[in-house]
Amino acid sequence: MMSNAVTWKRDLDVLVVTIDNPPVNALSPGVLEGIVEGVEAGVADEEVRAVVVIGAGKTFIAGADIREFPKIMAGERPMLSLNPLLERIENAAKPVVMALHGTALGGGLETAMAGHYRVAASSTQLGQPEVKLGLIPGAGGTQRLPRLVGVERALELCVFGNPVTAKEAVDWGLVDALVDGDLLAGAVAYARTLQAPRRTRDLTIESAPEEAIEMIREEARRRMRGQAAPLSALEVVCAADIFDFDEGLAFEARIFESLLKGPQAKAMIHVFFGEREVVKLPFVPKETRPREIRRAAIVGAGTMGRGIALCFANAGVPVQITDAAPAALGAALDWVKHHYEHAVKHKRLPAEEAARRAGRITGARALTEFGEADLIIEAVSEDPEVKRGVFAEMDRVARPGCLLASNTSTLDIDALAGATGRPGDVLGLHFFSPASVMRLLEVVRGAETSPEVIATAMELARRLRKVAVVAGNKFGFIGNRMFAPYREAAIRCVQEGALPWVVDQAIENYGLAMGPLAVGDLAGLDIGRAIRKEAGMPETVEDALCETGRLGQKNGRGWYHWEGNRRSADPGVEQVVRAWSEKQGIAQRTFTAREIVDRCLGALRAEGRKVLEEGVALRAVDIDIVYVHGYGYPAWRGGPMFDG
Ligand code: 3HC
Repeated sequence: MMSNAVTWKRDLDVLVVTIDNPPVNALSPGVLEGIVEGVEAGVADEEVRAVVVIGAGKTFIAGADIREFPKIMAGERPMLSLNPLLERIENAAKPVVMALHGTALGGGLETAMAGHYRVAASSTQLGQPEVKLGLIPGAGGTQRLPRLVGVERALELCVFGNPVTAKEAVDWGLVDALVDGDLLAGAVAYARTLQAPRRTRDLTIESAPEEAIEMIREEARRRMRGQAAPLSALEVVCAADIFDFDEGLAFEARIFESLLKGPQAKAMIHVFFGEREVVKLPFVPKETRPREIRRAAIVGAGTMGRGIALCFANAGVPVQITDAAPAALGAALDWVKHHYEHAVKHKRLPAEEAARRAGRITGARALTEFGEADLIIEAVSEDPEVKRGVFAEMDRVARPGCLLASNTSTLDIDALAGATGRPGDVLGLHFFSPASVMRLLEVVRGAETSPEVIATAMELARRLRKVAVVAGNKFGFIGNRMFAPYREAAIRCVQEGALPWVVDQAIENYGLAMGPLAVGDLAGLDIGRAIRKEAGMPETVEDALCETGRLGQKNGRGWYHWEGNRRSADPGVEQVVRAWSEKQGIAQRTFTAREIVDRCLGALRAEGRKVLEEGVALRAVDIDIVYVHGYGYPAWRGGPMFDG
């Protein structure tokens, strides 16, 4: 099938094949066929000496068309078969130059590697991100990449899924030349210098030492716990060094197909589309223009305030920070300095970049210095009266059009808006701790928050590299509201006989980053207690733990014994728990891991359904994204509301 997404045209002795399949030139049905037809037209034309393949718009091919995958899984479409087409490109009798810009990812990089030479704009990103969809490269990437860059680097790209820059790609031999300025002109000029094709499949492989492979395997096990694709990618890339090319391709195809038909890919593809769905807001008219955020300001220099300041500084937005206590402000500024020094020391940032970022964070003596800010975020203690006072002051100092946001995790945004004369500009921006690490941002929409303000928050989140999910203004919003009954379910399991570490282990084995009781220790058991009291909820064994002075990680004792970040089982806890249950007359029983998971996640889902019914979340997938990006829920399980 010929696709009108691909066209070709002669530039004297070079044929230029252009892919134009917006938005990202994905390999939708017919696109690769079109490229092959173009390449073969070039070969057949006696006046053509070489072919250049280039993407129209903002990018080269960003991958296979992911929208096709669910159809393949459902049996509505046959399995992808890109390899025979790529082989025709590779076998072309004249040099084929792939001209890359934007993102050459997945099937895009695989197409590029089936060409004979690659040139790239210096801003290009290249990668095999399939593991992020629960897959491995399925169009020869596991076999061609090690032939171009060696087994070890191919493993890094295919196992972890992170892209490399064009500059690195040149050093590695994946890209032959960088083009400054006009990519097409550069690619055509490069093509004219070539004498003959160079097939990637014929290159010899640089093997990797066994220890290097083992280290990558260990890192994948640790960082990508529970996921099948990374370890499969490792095996298949390593096979390139053992099998011949065609055997390697066949092995890759078998594993790709089994992963594509398995549950993890289904869940991760759901998350991929979910991340793009959550930003679509039916109540924001299409023509809405977000306001510009050039400067931000933060009230409160505690853990959250500092962390939020880093988010802005890292994204290039100058940010002021103030605190009622001058000592707290001083400590925050020291902490920022230390944070960036640490990043330089551990080679996470070059020194100049760290200095630029640190320079964007400045201390202010008082809110009165925030008159230039386009956004002020309140991050003071979770006390409604204190917060209302801060909002009234924000209203007094802020310029017209400035967004006034609260970082509250539970409180009523409308009550805060009521303390100002501009409720349309007030919203919740609930960052998660540590704010510069966690990707989730709950954007809380008050009764009067204007669509323009919400649109501004969504655009800001994109700049901050956050995943923003809009939540309705009800106690706990989406995430914390659901977390409470989930944690209570875990506590009930303990009360009925399961030891705390057994409960957490069951949840962690299911795939969550941390069990709910350990999370309680991180937050502080006194916090959970205060919430239960406030809500008039019955006492639990957690209250009994608090009474024995166990407050969580902060004093080294909670559900666990803590040494820094290391937790261990505490026999004292077992005693308190047993005594409490006996006093309450609660019959003790044993639990299977399955029962624990069903009870805890069942409670989470049940609350999720209420959150949906009440319109606090717009769609079920919004809840999934909140949990994947804010609560350590494994993407490969799709999120609490995803039913596979
Ligand atoms: N297939 C289908 N649609 C895709 C797509 C793909 N590979 N990549 C992006 N899109 C769509 C998005 O769903 C979105 O659609 P929408 O506007 O209707 O919501 C639109 O393109 C724009 O995407 P983003 O909002 O993500 O745009 P950005 O500019 O922020 O990012 C990107 C662009 C870096 C290309 C990012 O979209 C991305 O990472 N895409 C996925 C890349 C990927 O995983 N490729 C591998 C696919 S699997 C594969 O190739 C298998 C092979 O080995 C056989």
